[in-house]
Amino acid sequence: MAKDYPRIVTPPPGPNAQRIIERDQRYASPSYIKEYPLVVARGSGAMVEDVDGNRYLDFMAGIAVASTGHSHPAVVAAIREAAGKFLHICSTDFYYEPFAALCERLARLVPGPEPKRVFLTNSGTEAVEGAIKLVRAHTKRPNIIAFRGAFHGRTMGAISLNASKIKYRRHFGPFLPGVYHLPYADPYACQVCRAPGTCRDPLACAIEEAEALFRERVAPDEIAGVFIEPILGEGGYVIPPREFLQYWRDFCDAHGAVLVFDEIQSGVGRTGFMFASQLVDVTPDVTLLAKGLASGMPLGAIVAKESVMTWERGTHGSTFGGNPVCCAAALATLDLIEDGLCANAGRMGTILLRGLRTLAGKHECIGDVRGAGLMVGVTFVKDRTTKEPFTGLVPQIERVAFGKGLLLLGCGTSSIRIAPPLVVDEEDIATGLRILDEAITQARVPA
Ligand SMILES: Cc1ncc(COP(=O)(O)O)c(C=O)c1O
Repeated sequence: MAKDYPRIVTPPPGPNAQRIIERDQRYASPSYIKEYPLVVARGSGAMVEDVDGNRYLDFMAGIAVASTGHSHPAVVAAIREAAGKFLHICSTDFYYEPFAALCERLARLVPGPEPKRVFLTNSGTEAVEGAIKLVRAHTKRPNIIAFRGAFHGRTMGAISLNASKIKYRRHFGPFLPGVYHLPYADPYACQVCRAPGTCRDPLACAIEEAEALFRERVAPDEIAGVFIEPILGEGGYVIPPREFLQYWRDFCDAHGAVLVFDEIQSGVGRTGFMFASQLVDVTPDVTLLAKGLASGMPLGAIVAKESVMTWERGTHGSTFGGNPVCCAAALATLDLIEDGLCANAGRMGTILLRGLRTLAGKHECIGDVRGAGLMVGVTFVKDRTTKEPFTGLVPQIERVAFGKGLLLLGCGTSSIRIAPPLVVDEEDIATGLRILDEAITQARVPA
């Protein structure tokens, strides 16, 4: 049966959308981005409907969050049931079954032979903050390694680790002391060389910078933790060579530092693996989760080896973190992801990548296509040889696609991230590719 989306009945933003946008713009903080004028009324699976009756195919899932699709009936039922029992009692001070059940589930699910322990948060950035405290408390050391291109959140500790876009840091300093940024091994465009298109070995360049840091500025045995996204998210959906992550695994083993994988965007089935650490076959000491974990309900997690989660009673807690409704949503989400959506992400991702590579054959401005499962990046360049980013094109493509009923989202300097709900099927992929093709053809950068 043909799907009832995408379906544009009124060019967006329609009149109802405009009224809401005006109120929002009058009263909401000016710091919000608002990519394009989408005003949501409801969603179902991979479909989002706006307040004027337009229906869109969602290829961004609210920044890789609506993992099980919008308002999956099983997740909604779990939320309703939990909400009918109690909304809050505070996990820091008291006990309840969904909290214990989720901690147990995550502790067993996250890879690695050692037993794990779990701390639940309300967001990704809080998971990062907690992990900064944890690695310092555990090692009694001050320093942290983070990477260029990284995005870990918007609170002070997390922005101290960020190095993707200057807007996240400008005027917010001074930042956390003891944070050292090093290059991320981007196989497409070396972060170290001045002419990224000519570098033959971005991995060697990245490692050389790390070695220089430890020779000249900070001793390895004073590093508390290394925070890495195993696949860069906001920084451009970059998959590093496995050897890069293994280098940091070996470094942490050799010097007693804690390896933290920020899987807030890449975790919970998105890559076709439950965790990106399984895709790259490198096991961290700590895994951070949020985004897709509870299908859109606010929940994050620090999952650490028991031998690392050594902070003492009362040293860290949260009023809301791991509230019963979010825990119920997460348990239902994990059931769905494990029972088929993770595998679907792998299958659909293969079809999506194939289709995008065909598009790259047609559009000169596509410089690179890469990804795993339904975490796929497309980079736009002015010139394939120099790899000069085609800045300004991505917002245009987003706008044109939006007008045609496809929701996209940019990342990095000139990339689109394709991160649909994990429920998409072959028809959705074909539709999305068709609209993306048209949008690339029609997008024009203002002179
Ligand atoms: C890799 C990564 N870490 C951390 C965060 C911060 O998560 P939150 O926005 O829930 O605080 C994000 C959010 O985009 C992310 O992609």
